[in-house]
Amino acid sequence: MISLGIEGTAWNLSVGIVNDQKILSHQQHPYQPSDGGIHPREASQHHSDKIAKIIKKTVSNANIQPQQIDLISFSLGPGMGPCLRVIATAARALTLTLEKPLVGVNHCIAHIESGKWSTGLDDPIILYVSGANSQVLGYKSKRYRVFGETLDIGLGNALDKFARKLNLNHPGGPKIEKLAKKGEKLIELPYSVKGMDFSFSGLVTAAEKKLQRGEKKEDICYSLQEYSFSMLTEVAERALAHSGKKELLLCGGVGKNQRLKQMLKEMSLEYQIKFGYPKKELMGDNGAMIAHTAIKMYESGIEHSPGIEVKTDYRTDEVEVKWRE
Ligand code: ATP
Ligand code: FE2
Repeated sequence: MISLGIEGTAWNLSVGIVNDQKILSHQQHPYQPSDGGIHPREASQHHSDKIAKIIKKTVSNANIQPQQIDLISFSLGPGMGPCLRVIATAARALTLTLEKPLVGVNHCIAHIESGKWSTGLDDPIILYVSGANSQVLGYKSKRYRVFGETLDIGLGNALDKFARKLNLNHPGGPKIEKLAKKGEKLIELPYSVKGMDFSFSGLVTAAEKKLQRGEKKEDICYSLQEYSFSMLTEVAERALAHSGKKELLLCGGVGKNQRLKQMLKEMSLEYQIKFGYPKKELMGDNGAMIAHTAIKMYESGIEHSPGIEVKTDYRTDEVEVKWRE
């Protein structure tokens, strides 16, 4: 089955075409904010300007004719309303023109399913850390259950926010990682794990205060990473212990960070946990993850009408995972 998926919940507009075995083509066009953070309306304008071109390019790179596509899919949510509505419109138009079925995919589930596909992990605890989301999940009885999550902002957004204080543009995470490598001193910051949940906004505020007091930016970036990644590792470790699962999957844009991977790897080694993460191009938001998840959903009997509404606050545990035993 050949499946085309459209992703564009926030900053990255991307289209992927996959079959049951592999990615046939994958194209993206990230929106770069002129200054500050992501402006939803500007981002949606970017998506509507570029989407037709990206779809055409993805199809031609896959070396197929549009009629060979068997399934159309898009990110139904969570995400920014104006952005979601643009990609939904494009997906509806494709479905109606090509007369092919449509599936609306939960963006977070797509990170999980494509992560499993890419790593070969079967039943992992999932640490999903992106701009807007930070969750620890595990599958049980037809749902990806949320074991722990951020009580305020996602870690990626927290890092991006601090990066803006350093006059670094979006995305800030990779720039903080670079600065952190030059950090030498661990500066005390709030460590906020509450039960199985964590929070990051206090951490950013504290980091901003350290900056005002003249601490070196490299040391603050280093400390920000050490504190926030330790919090994630602690909760992931506890989820593994409670659930008895023997695998750990890291996904979402923040998962590109080498130091986070290293911490999780060390913890996994200690407890003999199989640790995996997708290839870099599948780590952040991408259309291939939507296209892949759509095949699983469609084969389990899920199909949506072109009238389906986007869901800006679509939660991971809202979705009945019909495609798993
Ligand atoms: P979602 O809709 O799932 O929240 P997203 O729109 O935030 O996704 P992703 O590509 O999953 O998109 O993640 C982007 C985030 O990842 C940004 O906040 C960015 O700063 C962060 N990020 C990217 N690379 C790194 C890195 N090397 N270290 C830390 N953070 C990173
Ligand atoms: Fe994402």
